[in-house]
Amino acid sequence: MKKVAIVGSQWGDEGKGKVVNYFSSDYEWIVRFSGGANAGHTIYYKGKKYVNHLLPSIDPGSNSKGFLGAGMVIDLEQLIKELKILENDFPGISSRFYIDMEAFLVLPWHKEEDELIESMRREPIGTTKRGIGPAYTDKVSREGIKLYHIFHEETLKQRLDDIYYLKNNIHNGKIKTNAEETYSYLIKLRKELDELKVNFASAVSMRDVFRSTSVLFEGAQGVLLDLDFGTYPFVTSGSCMAHGVSSVGFSTFELDEVYGVLKAYTTRVGEGPFPTELKDEDGEKIRNLGNEFGATTGRPRRTGWLDLPAMRYAKIRSGLTKIVITKADVLNGFDKVKICTAYDVEGKIKETPETSLDFVLAKPVYEELRGWKDTNDINFLKYLTFIEEKTGIKIEYISYGPKTEEMCTVNDMIMKIK
Ligand code: GDP
Ligand code: IMO
Ligand code: MG
Repeated sequence: MKKVAIVGSQWGDEGKGKVVNYFSSDYEWIVRFSGGANAGHTIYYKGKKYVNHLLPSIDPGSNSKGFLGAGMVIDLEQLIKELKILENDFPGISSRFYIDMEAFLVLPWHKEEDELIESMRREPIGTTKRGIGPAYTDKVSREGIKLYHIFHEETLKQRLDDIYYLKNNIHNGKIKTNAEETYSYLIKLRKELDELKVNFASAVSMRDVFRSTSVLFEGAQGVLLDLDFGTYPFVTSGSCMAHGVSSVGFSTFELDEVYGVLKAYTTRVGEGPFPTELKDEDGEKIRNLGNEFGATTGRPRRTGWLDLPAMRYAKIRSGLTKIVITKADVLNGFDKVKICTAYDVEGKIKETPETSLDFVLAKPVYEELRGWKDTNDINFLKYLTFIEEKTGIKIEYISYGPKTEEMCTVNDMIMKIK
């Protein structure tokens, strides 16, 4: 039974939600395995826009089910908000979602800490302020709360007391919430989840279920935001690569394909290196035509030309096997498009960055290609062929609009070329 992962191959917002939604009706399970509500995955289902921050992008009209894996950090209040939006349009849908009891929770103090630490950083990262860094930090420093804690009231009380004692010592009493409030808050959220009939499970109990059926893994963020191999320290705090499926008990060797979602140009939201960034009229034009404003924070996204060294890096780091290219329609009507083919790193030409430091030092080397009128124009096919030849990876699908159905295989597109 097919197991496929879909991950971002740039700095996030490549259109993963839309692509997952396109494939989702062919899979029994759609599994999110990392990140939290920093993600914003937009889908247009039957003409209506939904933005999933935590929920896997299942097809509401099929029988597919969603699983939130242990590698995630989950803000239960946000989760309930998303479930209620879906419940309104698809009553009963919450019972199609399962959450791993081992997942860590994002708690009120994490958002406070995210704000506080960002405000004190000399060089802010530009986080989404969704409490992601502090939640993963607590996980590593062993001060986290797992979902299962909220089902054992005595343990939960004790842990909250201990954690608040420590936090208040660290932050000199600056944390506004307290243990009692947070306890009542979590018990209230647990009751709401019960009322919605959400399921609680674990990768252990799901092991045989997942192996006997089809699973589509939905990555969050993108390779260049990965904690280990992204453009550190301007990264998120979790795994953004296909390897993250290990938190759901899978090995990447069990995956039939790892699709990298690649925007036809590049965007980044937040701070940090961005070799092909455009700070001119073309950049502004791409931002407006592509509606490049964050799905989570509404911030304008930084824009730039497509970056093939970054693509080659993503291919190696995340073991990508195929590409889905998105937002090609945004560049329709440009006379010429530039594409970065190599980096000049302190006088040395590199086709593939060797370390994430190379992104900081890189000066982009460009080639110019003719633009296309629409995605059925031969020049667009030449753009795709150029990318394939220069990166050694096949582009299998193209997305040419935000709606789920606005997608086809490259072969279908070739049949339509005028
Ligand atoms: P994700 O985080 O990777 O799921 O991407 P986001 O949802 O944050 O951002 C992608 C944006 O582009 C959303 O507004 C999508 O509706 C939109 N989108 C996705 N694919 C296409 C496409 O092929 N063309 C156009 N014009 N918009 C697209
Ligand atoms: P999706 O899944 C784009 C960025 C933030 C910031 C950095 C760290 O929608 O592609 P964090 O709040 O995670 O500590 O912020 O990472 N970032 C994203 N950028 N898409 C995302 O997710 C992102 N999630 C985090 O803007 O620069
Ligand atoms: Mg997004």
